[in-house]
Amino acid sequence: MAWGGARLTFNPAETTPEVPIEGNVLSSGEEDGGTLCYTLKVNGIDHRVESSWLGESLLWVLRERLGLPGSKNACEQGECGSCSVLVDHTLLCSCLVMAASAVGSEIVAVEGLSESLTDLQEAFIQAGAVQCGFCTPGLIVTVQDLLERVPEPTELEVREAISGNLCRCTGYGRILEAVQATVASRLGGSRP
Ligand code: FES
Ligand code: FES
Repeated sequence: MAWGGARLTFNPAETTPEVPIEGNVLSSGEEDGGTLCYTLKVNGIDHRVESSWLGESLLWVLRERLGLPGSKNACEQGECGSCSVLVDHTLLCSCLVMAASAVGSEIVAVEGLSESLTDLQEAFIQAGAVQCGFCTPGLIVTVQDLLERVPEPTELEVREAISGNLCRCTGYGRILEAVQATVASRLGGSRP
């Protein structure tokens, strides 16, 4: 993850003006108990994050500070994939990413995939692959990422791709069905 050129400021007290910090945020004096102010680019838009604790996860910042609750918090320890986002085109569990470490990166959360429902999201609905829906945003981001890299994946490739996304409701059959329907539709409906 790139630090170079990122504008990151450290605000050790409310009354202290922001001071631009060059380089790694880890050297910015967090041990003084201060807070950080920085800008995150999420879904193509720069968002200012004020008075942030250094240890705040990207998931927490997305949901609680930026008003983007699509990424779900189901385990907060990298086990379930419900918080999956893309950071510089790399699929990550946002609960495991320190938000300040993503300064200068392009972050895409589920809300940023499309202004309306994607064909994949429509397929999830049509296939009944959404029940409680807690896993769904992470699955959508994960499968979207897969299909951009592998437009016609085998079932094994799909299973491997979503192996980090836990669903407690669907048994995965309908999820696989939705992915297969999306692939078939994108390829012109020629697949069985
Ligand atoms: S909330 Fe991040 S992996 Fe479960
Ligand atoms: S639909 Fe409930 S966890 Fe997947």
